[in-house]
Amino acid sequence: MTIYSANPARYTSGMSYRRCGRSGVLLPALSLGFWHNFGCVTPEEQSRAIVRAAFDAGITHFDLANNYGPEPGAAEERLGKFLHDDLSRHRDELFIATKAAYDMWDGPYGSWASRKHMMASLDQSLRRLRIDYVDLFYCHRYDHETPLDETLQTLVDIVRAGKALYIGLSRWPKEAAQYGYQYLREQHVPCLIYQGRLNLFDQQPLNEGILSTAYEAGTGFISFSPLAQGLLTDRYLHGIPADSRIAHDPRFLKADALTPAMLTRIGRLNDLAAQRGEALATMALAWILHHKEVTSVIIGASSPEQLRRNLACLNSPAFTAEELLTIEKILSE
Ligand SMILES: NC(=O)c1ccc[n+]([C@@H]2O[C@H](COP(=O)([O-])OP(=O)(O)OC[C@H]3O[C@@H](n4cnc5c(N)ncnc54)[C@H](OP(=O)(O)O)[C@@H]3O)[C@@H](O)[C@H]2O)c1
Repeated sequence: MTIYSANPARYTSGMSYRRCGRSGVLLPALSLGFWHNFGCVTPEEQSRAIVRAAFDAGITHFDLANNYGPEPGAAEERLGKFLHDDLSRHRDELFIATKAAYDMWDGPYGSWASRKHMMASLDQSLRRLRIDYVDLFYCHRYDHETPLDETLQTLVDIVRAGKALYIGLSRWPKEAAQYGYQYLREQHVPCLIYQGRLNLFDQQPLNEGILSTAYEAGTGFISFSPLAQGLLTDRYLHGIPADSRIAHDPRFLKADALTPAMLTRIGRLNDLAAQRGEALATMALAWILHHKEVTSVIIGASSPEQLRRNLACLNSPAFTAEELLTIEKILSE
């Protein structure tokens, strides 16, 4: 392992920081996600190189969850090691998020959003991450059975106990999220951020008003899977490369996603990006960031080079009305 010395120009080399809702927090326009590329299918030194490249580029926000792996917990363990080895001096420069509510351990308390699960899960996460508190703790999904007040009060108590500085909600239906914003505000622990999937292929948060209601509530919005797990890139235009997600870690993105209609759509978006003088991945990220309600975009990267390439979206040209219409047309055909 080489000794790591952080890039001294990490905050002046181009990253922009956006205010998260009506809070005191600034998040980098690009954040790094740990869902893939930080478990046992990826060599540890490759994961370490991605984290170093991210921090050196001014990416101060890392997005994790209890169950990110494989095996569940592996991504938190890896980051815990890197924090210890490389970044312990930089802890206060980092904004570290984790989550609970997806399946984590056996038995009735290993999942969902009860007080029992969320409290135990966060304690486990802190041990794996080797830190005393996380900056942001999310309820990772909406639980149809646990009373909302039980989940929300647990989030409040977690902040009051000093185990998390801020609270977030992920994948909650709009009405439940709105109830949550109000409950949390009344408890003086306002919801910092809503995390949802927003990308060119999945505009549900826009269409269902999740983005606008978060904005009105003073809550930030962060987009996950902004490249649709790699579909919104040139990765699959000429087959399935051996080192791609579909080939080497197809837990969630499978080859059957590459239908002829999907490949045509990707090809046409790729042509439009080329006309703008950029890669499809760059255009796809820039499209998300052009929405004023969006605080940050959580990218996944399987190599440091890929991560660095995606920084180009910070300098993308503004979209013309004609380009936006062309995008709409491509997506509706
Ligand atoms: N809240 C939730 O429920 C939830 C759900 C999902 C994800 N998330 C968060 O969102 C983060 C990002 O999700 P994601 O990994 O699906 O994001 P993504 O950015 O849509 O996909 C990332 C993948 O796309 C490929 N890629 C990235 N840049 C590329 C480029 N320039 N050219 C070609 N291929 C490129 C890489 O896959 P290859 O392996 O093919 O190189 C990379 O691992 C996760 O890590 C997690 O933190 C949250």
